[in-house]
Amino acid sequence: MGSYMNNYFTVQTGFYGNTSPDRLLEQFGSPLYVYNENILRKRCREMANLVPYANFKANYSVKANSNLELLKIVRSEGLHADAMSPGEIFVLMKAGFKPEEIFYVSNNVSAGEMKFAIERGIITSIDSLSQLELYGRINPGGKVAVRFNPGVGAGHHEKVITGGKKTKFGVNLDLVDEVKRILKKYNLKLAGINQHIGSLFMEGDPYIEGLKSILSVAEKFDDIEFLDFGGGFGIPYRKQERQPRLDLDTLGKKLGDIISSWVKKYEKEVIIKIEPGRYIVAECGVLLGTVYAVKKNYGDTYVGTDLGFNTLMRPVMYDAHHEIEVYKNGKPVSTEVLEKVNIVGNICESGDIIAKERLLPKIEEGDIIGVMDAGAYGYSMASNYNNRLRPAEVLVRSNGEVSLIRRRDTLEDLVRNFDL
Ligand code: LLP
Repeated sequence: MGSYMNNYFTVQTGFYGNTSPDRLLEQFGSPLYVYNENILRKRCREMANLVPYANFKANYSVKANSNLELLKIVRSEGLHADAMSPGEIFVLMKAGFKPEEIFYVSNNVSAGEMKFAIERGIITSIDSLSQLELYGRINPGGKVAVRFNPGVGAGHHEKVITGGKKTKFGVNLDLVDEVKRILKKYNLKLAGINQHIGSLFMEGDPYIEGLKSILSVAEKFDDIEFLDFGGGFGIPYRKQERQPRLDLDTLGKKLGDIISSWVKKYEKEVIIKIEPGRYIVAECGVLLGTVYAVKKNYGDTYVGTDLGFNTLMRPVMYDAHHEIEVYKNGKPVSTEVLEKVNIVGNICESGDIIAKERLLPKIEEGDIIGVMDAGAYGYSMASNYNNRLRPAEVLVRSNGEVSLIRRRDTLEDLVRNFDL
């Protein structure tokens, strides 16, 4: 398998800039989310330029990571954003996004939440006929988008497949006439149509299939302003095995061809949007933690760390795989001898395993563990379970310098809302 360390992602990318894992933990405490600005910017540019079509726009899907500093960088790269809640809209606006740069993809929301977007001039996508009725009642004559379910889905786990026959999302394609009836009833203008087939595909085919069925729906409406094909672009989590990247060149060209010929037929240069979340932020984030105990239970080795599932939920929730790097005295471990271990956290549940049965260099108390590709759905799904404090977040800037971009929770944060 070659030297484990030669494959270290953070070595290859100069991830830690002028600093190192041990110095970072000394300065900011453990556990800690570390982000790399160069990688973030690179991924933004790849998505911003994915489709060779003049009216193309990438909307960053803020649910993947809503750190204000990262959002400002994403915006500085020219991306717009999609939001899933008033909270996400609020945070996006704090980061400087203008209402016209935000698309609210709503799902089962109250009239109050719809009004939150309407009052701010933010276009909302509606996810069902009943919600379209509600929207019509509170904003007659307004502009709206409708999310359709293209009948195909994709994703790394059944919990994140959002298109196809077994999901709560979108309006079925055969309900176009009903949609038209409600639009007319409330004099609503259909500004856009959107979809999202699911999260994490490594082959573009289902995405293209979904796109084609949305295009055929769009033809049934006059004067559409935009089409949004959703996110789901995967990243290679299995970096040690050199998993290939999603082939963006091929996918982008295919999308460009389909869109260009459709636009000719439709006789309007509609705006084409995508909604990548994971692809933008996953690889720019590493979660660092500390090893406090190593033990054998009935033959299995458990490496006990402060990386409970309150810090990174994905392995427990989806059996997700994240590559692990091991550092001793701040340096990547270079031993060739590998040992099978389970890396576990400090939460009171047996399921609290961040990496199961992994072959890793020998790990001892005091070593530092780096969890790769933790930038997407890491901090954004972190919690205070067991009244643990969510980690701090730091950014390694393009010049190699590091700065704190969110402080660690404090004990006082745990009782803040009891101040009645
Ligand atoms: N647009 C909509 C409407 C979505 O629901 C999502 C993700 C996205 C865009 C962005 O998808 P992405 O490009 O990040 O795949 N927590 C899970 C992923 C949940 C995705 C939910 N929706 C995970 O950690 O894998």
